[in-house]
Amino acid sequence: MIKGLIFDLDGVIVNTDIYHFEAWKQVASQYSIQLDSSINERLKGLSRRDSWNLIMELGNIQLSDEETNLVLETKNSLYRKELKNLSRDNILLGVEDFLKELNQKDFKLAIGSSSKNARDILHYLNLSSSFNSIIDGSMVKNLKPSPDIFIKAAKTLDLETNQCLVFEDALSGVHAAKAGGFKVIAVGNKELIDVADYYIDNFLNFKIDEYATVS
Ligand code: BG6
Ligand code: MG
Repeated sequence: MIKGLIFDLDGVIVNTDIYHFEAWKQVASQYSIQLDSSINERLKGLSRRDSWNLIMELGNIQLSDEETNLVLETKNSLYRKELKNLSRDNILLGVEDFLKELNQKDFKLAIGSSSKNARDILHYLNLSSSFNSIIDGSMVKNLKPSPDIFIKAAKTLDLETNQCLVFEDALSGVHAAKAGGFKVIAVGNKELIDVADYYIDNFLNFKIDEYATVS
């Protein structure tokens, strides 16, 4: 019986994934690396460091640890500048009503995000109180595709893996959920249909009762 829902943040609750990509494009262009949108699909869900490692691999460059750290700081400040303009318009379709419904029905809710900015984003959007637990990229050692974030989220909800459903928009996140033994619903990314257990375009008309008994 499903009692808990664990949500990825970027690309599932809020459309910040475009801001991540814009910031990466700017940083990469300083090293003459052009990123197209197919690369964005591969970057989604990866930690900040893993994202830059992939970009360096694609651009065939290598940087010292010191310069890499500088790049990561620059990317984050570009990204955080964009976050200042976040409003409720950035919340994805159907999310607010769905969270309200789940809270009314006494489901336990968690965020499981690789982002170290997750708490700030939820605060800006006034959504922090919708979740019983927020697990972000600063709280576990191994980020997605490792299952640690989702396992910790289930633990803090005091639930077993098979009592939780995970919502994800990224391949690395679906892999993380599967590696942890969770059932996973892919959201808004049709490329994930074959790897996830279920697929939805968005949360409009999502009927939690239809999924409440999967395990
Ligand atoms: C994930 C995003 O949620 O968080 C990735 O999908 C991002 O694109 C990762 O790299 C880390 O986020 P942050 O905010 O700590 O740089
Ligand atoms: Mg995501």
